[in-house]
Amino acid sequence: MPGYELIGKEEKKQLNSIFSNGGILFRQGFESLRKKNSFKVLEFEKKFSKYMGSKYALAVTSGTAALRVALASLNLKKGDEVITQSFTFVATVEAIIESRLTPVCCDVDETLNMDPDQLKKLITKKTKAVIVVHMLGVSPEMDKIKKICKKFNISIIEDTAWGCGGYFGKSRLGTLGRIGTYSFDFAKTITTGEGGMIVFKKKQDFDRAKAWHDHGHENNPKVPRWEDTRSSSGFNYRMTELQGAVGLAQLKKLEKVLKFQRLNKDKIEKKIKKLNLKFRKIPKKNIDTCDALIFFVKDKSIAKRCRKSLNMNGIQTKILPEASTWHFSKYWSHMSELKKKYKNLKRSFIKSENYINRAISIPIFVKMNKEIPNIIYKSLKKII
Ligand SMILES: Cc1ncc(COP(=O)(O)O)c(C=O)c1O
Repeated sequence: MPGYELIGKEEKKQLNSIFSNGGILFRQGFESLRKKNSFKVLEFEKKFSKYMGSKYALAVTSGTAALRVALASLNLKKGDEVITQSFTFVATVEAIIESRLTPVCCDVDETLNMDPDQLKKLITKKTKAVIVVHMLGVSPEMDKIKKICKKFNISIIEDTAWGCGGYFGKSRLGTLGRIGTYSFDFAKTITTGEGGMIVFKKKQDFDRAKAWHDHGHENNPKVPRWEDTRSSSGFNYRMTELQGAVGLAQLKKLEKVLKFQRLNKDKIEKKIKKLNLKFRKIPKKNIDTCDALIFFVKDKSIAKRCRKSLNMNGIQTKILPEASTWHFSKYWSHMSELKKKYKNLKRSFIKSENYINRAISIPIFVKMNKEIPNIIYKSLKKII
Protein backbone atom coordinates (compact mmCIF):
# COMPACT_ATOMS: atom_id res chain seq x y z
CA MET A 1 0.00 0.00 0.00
CA PRO A 2 1.21 3.48 0.59
CA GLY A 3 4.51 5.28 0.97
CA TYR A 4 3.28 6.47 4.37
CA GLU A 5 4.59 3.23 5.82
CA LEU A 6 8.11 4.35 4.99
CA ILE A 7 7.97 8.00 6.08
CA GLY A 8 11.08 8.65 8.14
CA LYS A 9 14.40 10.38 8.42
CA GLU A 10 14.87 10.89 4.67
CA GLU A 11 11.72 13.04 4.46
CA LYS A 12 12.77 14.93 7.60
CA LYS A 13 16.22 15.61 6.13
CA GLN A 14 14.69 16.92 2.91
CA LEU A 15 12.35 19.21 4.86
CA ASN A 16 15.14 20.47 7.12
CA SER A 17 17.22 21.35 4.10
CA ILE A 18 14.54 23.87 3.04
CA PHE A 19 14.96 25.69 6.34
CA SER A 20 18.74 25.62 6.27
CA ASN A 21 18.75 26.96 2.70
CA GLY A 22 16.73 30.12 3.17
CA GLY A 23 13.33 28.77 4.20
CA ILE A 24 11.56 29.63 0.93
CA LEU A 25 8.30 27.68 0.76
CA PHE A 26 7.06 29.04 -2.58
CA ARG A 27 7.88 26.97 -5.66
CA GLN A 28 9.48 29.75 -7.67
CA GLY A 29 11.37 33.03 -7.44
CA PHE A 30 13.18 34.49 -4.39
CA GLU A 31 16.49 33.38 -5.92
CA SER A 32 18.57 35.74 -3.80
CA LEU A 33 17.18 34.24 -0.58
CA ARG A 34 17.69 30.61 -1.60
CA LYS A 35 20.99 28.95 -0.78
CA LYS A 36 22.41 26.14 -2.91
CA ASN A 37 19.88 26.91 -5.63
CA SER A 38 17.27 24.95 -3.66
CA PHE A 39 14.08 24.46 -5.71
CA LYS A 40 12.37 21.37 -4.33
CA VAL A 41 9.24 21.28 -6.52
CA LEU A 42 11.26 21.88 -9.66
CA GLU A 43 13.70 19.12 -8.70
CA PHE A 44 10.80 16.77 -7.89
CA GLU A 45 9.25 17.46 -11.33
CA LYS A 46 12.55 16.80 -13.10
CA LYS A 47 13.23 13.56 -11.24
CA PHE A 48 9.64 12.35 -11.61
CA SER A 49 9.56 12.92 -15.36
CA LYS A 50 12.93 11.16 -15.72
CA TYR A 51 11.66 8.19 -13.70
CA MET A 52 8.51 7.96 -15.81
CA GLY A 53 10.37 8.42 -19.08
CA SER A 54 8.21 11.39 -19.92
CA LYS A 55 9.32 14.74 -21.32
CA TYR A 56 7.41 17.14 -19.09
CA ALA A 57 6.02 17.03 -15.55
CA LEU A 58 4.06 19.54 -13.49
CA ALA A 59 3.49 19.16 -9.75
CA VAL A 60 0.10 20.25 -8.35
CA THR A 61 -1.80 20.19 -5.06
CA SER A 62 -3.71 16.92 -5.46
CA GLY A 63 -4.66 14.13 -7.85
CA THR A 64 -8.03 15.83 -8.32
CA ALA A 65 -6.27 19.10 -9.23
CA ALA A 66 -4.04 17.13 -11.63
CA LEU A 67 -7.14 15.97 -13.53
CA ARG A 68 -8.65 19.45 -13.55
CA VAL A 69 -5.45 21.06 -14.83
CA ALA A 70 -4.98 18.29 -17.42
CA LEU A 71 -8.46 18.95 -18.79
CA ALA A 72 -7.83 22.71 -18.82
CA SER A 73 -4.72 22.17 -20.92
CA LEU A 74 -6.80 20.48 -23.65
CA ASN A 75 -8.80 23.66 -24.25
CA LEU A 76 -12.14 21.88 -24.66
CA LYS A 77 -15.49 23.61 -25.11
CA LYS A 78 -18.34 23.68 -22.61
CA GLY A 79 -20.51 20.61 -23.22
CA ASP A 80 -17.82 18.49 -24.92
CA GLU A 81 -18.04 14.92 -23.70
CA VAL A 82 -15.36 13.15 -21.71
CA ILE A 83 -15.69 9.41 -21.24
CA THR A 84 -14.34 7.83 -18.08
CA GLN A 85 -15.18 4.58 -16.32
CA SER A 86 -17.97 3.64 -13.95
CA PHE A 87 -15.55 2.28 -11.33
CA THR A 88 -13.28 5.09 -10.18
CA PHE A 89 -13.17 7.58 -7.31
CA VAL A 90 -15.67 10.48 -7.51
CA ALA A 91 -12.71 12.80 -8.19
CA THR A 92 -12.43 11.72 -11.84
CA VAL A 93 -16.01 12.70 -12.62
CA GLU A 94 -15.84 15.79 -10.39
CA ALA A 95 -12.89 17.08 -12.44
CA ILE A 96 -14.91 16.68 -15.66
CA ILE A 97 -17.90 18.50 -14.16
CA GLU A 98 -15.71 21.24 -12.69
CA SER A 99 -14.31 21.78 -16.21
CA ARG A 100 -17.88 22.37 -17.51
CA LEU A 101 -17.63 19.24 -19.64
CA THR A 102 -20.14 16.39 -19.84
CA PRO A 103 -19.17 13.18 -18.03
CA VAL A 104 -19.98 9.83 -19.61
CA CYS A 105 -19.23 6.65 -17.67
CA CYS A 106 -18.18 3.48 -19.45
CA ASP A 107 -18.76 0.04 -17.97
CA VAL A 108 -15.81 -1.89 -16.62
CA ASP A 109 -14.82 -5.43 -17.61
CA GLU A 110 -13.09 -8.14 -15.58
CA THR A 111 -9.98 -5.92 -15.29
CA LEU A 112 -12.29 -3.64 -13.24
CA ASN A 113 -11.28 -0.91 -15.67
CA MET A 114 -12.68 0.59 -18.87
CA ASP A 115 -14.30 -1.97 -21.17
CA PRO A 116 -12.98 -1.24 -24.70
CA ASP A 117 -16.02 -2.84 -26.36
CA GLN A 118 -18.38 -0.50 -24.59
CA LEU A 119 -16.10 2.49 -25.11
CA LYS A 120 -16.52 2.07 -28.87
CA LYS A 121 -20.29 2.31 -28.49
CA LEU A 122 -20.19 5.44 -26.34
CA ILE A 123 -18.18 7.62 -28.71
CA THR A 124 -20.13 10.45 -30.34
CA LYS A 125 -19.17 13.56 -32.28
CA LYS A 126 -19.02 15.39 -28.96
CA THR A 127 -16.45 13.01 -27.43
CA LYS A 128 -13.18 14.89 -27.07
CA ALA A 129 -11.28 12.98 -24.39
CA VAL A 130 -11.18 9.65 -22.59
CA ILE A 131 -9.95 9.35 -19.02
CA VAL A 132 -8.87 5.77 -18.38
CA VAL A 133 -8.22 4.86 -14.76
CA HIS A 134 -5.62 2.35 -13.56
CA MET A 135 -7.82 1.43 -10.61
CA LEU A 136 -5.95 0.01 -7.65
CA GLY A 137 -2.73 -0.35 -9.61
CA VAL A 138 -3.93 -2.38 -12.62
CA SER A 139 -4.32 -1.07 -16.18
CA PRO A 140 -7.19 -1.62 -18.60
CA GLU A 141 -6.55 -3.24 -21.99
CA MET A 142 -4.57 -0.20 -23.12
CA ASP A 143 -3.71 -1.46 -26.62
CA LYS A 144 -7.39 -1.77 -27.51
CA ILE A 145 -8.29 1.56 -25.95
CA LYS A 146 -5.43 3.36 -27.71
CA LYS A 147 -6.48 1.90 -31.05
CA ILE A 148 -10.08 3.10 -30.63
CA CYS A 149 -9.03 6.58 -29.51
CA LYS A 150 -6.56 6.89 -32.37
CA LYS A 151 -9.24 5.96 -34.89
CA PHE A 152 -11.58 8.67 -33.60
CA ASN A 153 -8.82 11.19 -32.86
CA ILE A 154 -9.66 11.35 -29.16
CA SER A 155 -7.11 12.36 -26.50
CA ILE A 156 -6.34 9.94 -23.69
CA ILE A 157 -5.73 11.12 -20.14
CA GLU A 158 -4.59 8.37 -17.77
CA ASP A 159 -5.79 8.77 -14.20
CA THR A 160 -2.81 7.06 -12.60
CA ALA A 161 -3.73 7.96 -9.02
CA TRP A 162 -3.26 4.30 -8.05
CA GLY A 163 -0.82 3.24 -10.75
CA CYS A 164 2.38 5.12 -9.92
CA GLY A 165 5.32 2.95 -11.02
CA GLY A 166 3.36 0.29 -12.92
CA TYR A 167 4.00 -0.61 -16.56
CA PHE A 168 2.05 -1.45 -19.68
CA GLY A 169 4.53 -3.03 -22.08
CA LYS A 170 7.67 -0.93 -21.88
CA SER A 171 5.87 2.26 -20.87
CA ARG A 172 5.20 3.42 -17.36
CA LEU A 173 1.51 3.86 -16.55
CA GLY A 174 0.64 7.50 -17.13
CA THR A 175 2.84 7.83 -20.21
CA LEU A 176 0.78 5.84 -22.74
CA GLY A 177 -1.72 8.56 -23.54
CA ARG A 178 -1.40 12.26 -24.21
CA ILE A 179 -1.40 13.19 -20.50
CA GLY A 180 -1.02 11.22 -17.26
CA THR A 181 -2.08 12.30 -13.77
CA TYR A 182 -0.94 11.00 -10.36
CA SER A 183 -2.06 11.43 -6.77
CA PHE A 184 0.20 11.67 -3.74
CA ASP A 185 -2.52 11.73 -1.11
CA PHE A 186 -1.92 9.81 2.06
CA ALA A 187 -3.23 6.47 0.78
CA LYS A 188 -1.15 6.36 -2.40
CA THR A 189 1.99 4.47 -3.40
CA ILE A 190 4.09 7.54 -2.70
CA THR A 191 2.73 10.43 -0.69
CA THR A 192 3.31 14.11 -0.01
CA GLY A 193 0.32 14.30 2.38
CA GLU A 194 -1.71 15.92 -0.38
CA GLY A 195 -0.30 16.42 -3.85
CA GLY A 196 -0.30 15.34 -7.45
CA MET A 197 1.69 15.30 -10.67
CA ILE A 198 0.88 15.56 -14.37
CA VAL A 199 3.09 14.24 -17.16
CA PHE A 200 2.75 15.42 -20.75
CA LYS A 201 3.85 14.29 -24.20
CA LYS A 202 3.32 17.68 -25.85
CA LYS A 203 5.11 20.88 -24.91
CA GLN A 204 2.03 22.89 -25.85
CA ASP A 205 -0.12 21.02 -23.27
CA PHE A 206 2.58 21.40 -20.63
CA ASP A 207 2.93 25.15 -21.23
CA ARG A 208 -0.83 25.67 -21.06
CA ALA A 209 -1.15 23.60 -17.89
CA LYS A 210 1.79 25.29 -16.24
CA ALA A 211 0.29 28.72 -16.79
CA TRP A 212 -3.28 27.62 -15.95
CA HIS A 213 -2.29 26.09 -12.58
CA ASP A 214 -0.73 29.44 -11.66
CA HIS A 215 -3.47 32.02 -12.52
CA GLY A 216 -2.24 32.16 -16.12
CA HIS A 217 1.33 33.23 -15.20
CA GLU A 218 3.65 32.51 -18.12
CA ASN A 219 6.75 33.13 -16.02
CA ASN A 220 8.15 35.27 -18.77
CA PRO A 221 11.89 35.60 -18.05
CA LYS A 222 11.98 39.09 -19.64
CA VAL A 223 9.77 40.67 -16.96
CA PRO A 224 9.41 40.44 -13.18
CA ARG A 225 6.56 38.21 -11.92
CA TRP A 226 4.30 41.17 -11.07
CA GLU A 227 4.48 42.30 -14.70
CA ASP A 228 4.18 38.75 -16.05
CA THR A 229 2.50 38.05 -19.40
CA ARG A 230 -0.62 35.87 -19.71
CA SER A 231 -2.73 34.34 -22.46
CA SER A 232 -5.45 32.72 -20.37
CA SER A 233 -6.94 32.95 -16.93
CA GLY A 234 -6.43 30.01 -14.60
CA PHE A 235 -6.45 29.05 -10.96
CA ASN A 236 -4.05 28.23 -8.14
CA TYR A 237 -2.98 24.60 -7.89
CA ARG A 238 0.70 25.23 -7.08
CA MET A 239 2.56 22.66 -5.02
CA THR A 240 4.59 24.01 -2.08
CA GLU A 241 8.28 23.40 -1.45
CA LEU A 242 7.32 21.38 1.65
CA GLN A 243 5.40 18.87 -0.48
CA GLY A 244 8.14 18.90 -3.11
CA ALA A 245 10.76 18.03 -0.48
CA VAL A 246 8.74 15.08 0.85
CA GLY A 247 8.08 13.98 -2.74
CA LEU A 248 11.81 13.84 -3.47
CA ALA A 249 12.40 11.53 -0.50
CA GLN A 250 9.38 9.39 -1.37
CA LEU A 251 10.31 9.04 -5.03
CA LYS A 252 13.62 7.48 -3.98
CA LYS A 253 11.62 4.84 -2.09
CA LEU A 254 9.18 4.03 -4.87
CA GLU A 255 11.07 1.03 -6.24
CA LYS A 256 11.34 -0.40 -2.75
CA VAL A 257 7.61 0.10 -2.14
CA LEU A 258 6.80 -1.67 -5.41
CA LYS A 259 9.21 -4.52 -4.77
CA PHE A 260 7.72 -5.37 -1.37
CA GLN A 261 4.14 -4.91 -2.53
CA ARG A 262 4.82 -7.37 -5.37
CA LEU A 263 6.40 -9.90 -3.02
CA ASN A 264 3.62 -9.61 -0.46
CA LYS A 265 0.80 -9.77 -2.98
CA ASP A 266 2.38 -12.88 -4.44
CA LYS A 267 2.51 -14.56 -1.02
CA ILE A 268 -1.17 -13.86 -0.31
CA GLU A 269 -2.27 -14.87 -3.79
CA LYS A 270 -0.41 -18.18 -3.63
CA LYS A 271 -2.06 -19.00 -0.32
CA ILE A 272 -5.65 -18.12 -1.20
CA LYS A 273 -5.47 -19.68 -4.68
CA LYS A 274 -6.28 -22.94 -2.90
CA LEU A 275 -9.83 -21.62 -2.43
CA ASN A 276 -10.42 -21.73 -6.19
CA LEU A 277 -11.16 -18.01 -6.39
CA LYS A 278 -11.59 -16.06 -9.59
CA PHE A 279 -9.05 -13.24 -9.55
CA ARG A 280 -9.37 -9.87 -11.23
CA LYS A 281 -7.98 -10.03 -14.77
CA ILE A 282 -4.63 -8.36 -15.28
CA PRO A 283 -3.86 -7.53 -18.93
CA LYS A 284 -0.91 -9.55 -20.29
CA LYS A 285 1.30 -6.52 -20.89
CA ASN A 286 0.55 -4.92 -17.52
CA ILE A 287 2.98 -5.05 -14.61
CA ASP A 288 0.74 -3.82 -11.83
CA THR A 289 1.78 -1.91 -8.73
CA CYS A 290 0.30 -4.62 -6.51
CA ASP A 291 -1.56 -2.04 -4.49
CA ALA A 292 -4.37 -4.53 -3.83
CA LEU A 293 -5.32 -8.12 -4.52
CA ILE A 294 -8.85 -8.41 -5.88
CA PHE A 295 -10.98 -11.49 -6.43
CA PHE A 296 -14.64 -12.22 -7.13
CA VAL A 297 -17.04 -14.32 -5.07
CA LYS A 298 -20.51 -15.59 -5.93
CA ASP A 299 -22.59 -12.60 -4.85
CA LYS A 300 -22.81 -9.39 -2.83
CA SER A 301 -23.87 -11.01 0.42
CA ILE A 302 -20.94 -13.45 0.35
CA ALA A 303 -18.61 -10.52 -0.35
CA LYS A 304 -19.96 -8.74 2.72
CA ARG A 305 -19.63 -11.85 4.86
CA CYS A 306 -16.03 -12.32 3.70
CA ARG A 307 -15.25 -8.75 4.72
CA LYS A 308 -16.80 -9.29 8.14
CA SER A 309 -14.81 -12.45 8.67
CA LEU A 310 -11.57 -10.73 7.57
CA ASN A 311 -12.30 -7.75 9.83
CA MET A 312 -12.90 -10.01 12.81
CA ASN A 313 -9.40 -11.34 12.32
CA GLY A 314 -7.85 -7.89 12.06
CA ILE A 315 -7.67 -7.70 8.25
CA GLN A 316 -9.10 -4.72 6.39
CA THR A 317 -10.46 -4.62 2.86
CA LYS A 318 -9.77 -1.70 0.52
CA ILE A 319 -12.70 0.06 -1.24
CA LEU A 320 -14.47 -3.20 -2.17
CA PRO A 321 -16.93 -4.06 -0.87
CA GLU A 322 -17.24 -1.36 1.79
CA ALA A 323 -16.74 1.90 -0.13
CA SER A 324 -18.44 1.20 -3.43
CA THR A 325 -20.79 4.20 -3.07
CA TRP A 326 -17.74 6.50 -3.41
CA HIS A 327 -16.26 4.52 -6.29
CA PHE A 328 -19.14 3.40 -8.48
CA SER A 329 -21.03 5.92 -10.63
CA LYS A 330 -24.32 4.10 -10.18
CA TYR A 331 -24.56 5.77 -6.75
CA TRP A 332 -23.80 9.35 -7.82
CA SER A 333 -27.28 10.78 -8.11
CA HIS A 334 -25.98 13.79 -6.12
CA MET A 335 -24.22 14.86 -9.36
CA SER A 336 -26.89 16.64 -11.39
CA GLU A 337 -24.74 16.40 -14.56
CA LEU A 338 -24.79 12.60 -14.33
CA LYS A 339 -28.48 12.52 -13.49
CA LYS A 340 -29.21 14.62 -16.55
CA LYS A 341 -27.20 12.27 -18.78
CA TYR A 342 -28.60 9.01 -17.38
CA LYS A 343 -32.35 8.73 -16.95
CA ASN A 344 -32.00 5.71 -14.70
CA LEU A 345 -28.55 6.01 -13.16
CA LYS A 346 -29.06 3.06 -10.82
CA ARG A 347 -29.71 0.68 -13.74
CA SER A 348 -27.17 2.10 -16.18
CA PHE A 349 -24.12 -0.01 -15.38
CA ILE A 350 -25.36 -3.57 -15.09
CA LYS A 351 -22.17 -5.09 -16.50
CA SER A 352 -20.00 -3.18 -14.02
CA GLU A 353 -22.36 -4.03 -11.20
CA ASN A 354 -21.92 -7.72 -11.82
CA TYR A 355 -18.18 -7.38 -11.13
CA ILE A 356 -18.19 -4.66 -8.47
CA ASN A 357 -20.85 -6.26 -6.27
CA ARG A 358 -18.94 -9.53 -6.08
CA ALA A 359 -15.43 -8.12 -5.63
CA ILE A 360 -13.25 -8.18 -2.55
CA SER A 361 -10.10 -6.10 -2.44
CA ILE A 362 -7.31 -6.88 0.01
CA PRO A 363 -4.87 -4.01 0.61
CA ILE A 364 -1.22 -4.91 0.15
CA PHE A 365 1.26 -3.40 2.56
CA VAL A 366 5.00 -2.89 2.27
CA LYS A 367 5.56 -4.28 5.74
CA MET A 368 3.68 -7.53 6.26
CA ASN A 369 3.66 -9.93 9.18
CA LYS A 370 4.37 -13.39 7.79
CA GLU A 371 1.20 -14.79 9.38
CA ILE A 372 -1.06 -12.53 7.28
CA PRO A 373 -1.52 -14.82 4.23
CA ASN A 374 -2.60 -17.62 6.53
CA ILE A 375 -5.01 -15.40 8.49
CA ILE A 376 -6.59 -14.21 5.24
CA TYR A 377 -6.86 -17.77 3.98
CA LYS A 378 -8.55 -19.00 7.17
CA SER A 379 -10.94 -16.03 7.33
CA LEU A 380 -12.08 -16.62 3.74
CA LYS A 381 -12.25 -20.41 4.01
CA LYS A 382 -14.93 -20.13 6.69
CA ILE A 383 -17.25 -18.33 4.28
CA ILE A 384 -16.41 -19.66 0.82
C1 LIG B 1 -8.89 7.13 -9.28
C2 LIG B 1 -8.62 8.38 -8.50
N1 LIG B 1 -8.49 9.55 -9.15
C3 LIG B 1 -8.23 10.68 -8.50
C4 LIG B 1 -8.09 10.71 -7.12
C5 LIG B 1 -7.89 12.01 -6.43
O1 LIG B 1 -6.66 12.13 -5.80
P1 LIG B 1 -6.49 13.14 -4.58
O2 LIG B 1 -7.01 12.47 -3.36
O3 LIG B 1 -4.99 13.32 -4.53
O4 LIG B 1 -7.19 14.38 -4.93
C6 LIG B 1 -8.22 9.53 -6.40
C7 LIG B 1 -8.09 9.51 -4.93
O5 LIG B 1 -8.22 8.53 -4.27
C8 LIG B 1 -8.49 8.33 -7.10
O6 LIG B 1 -8.68 7.18 -6.48
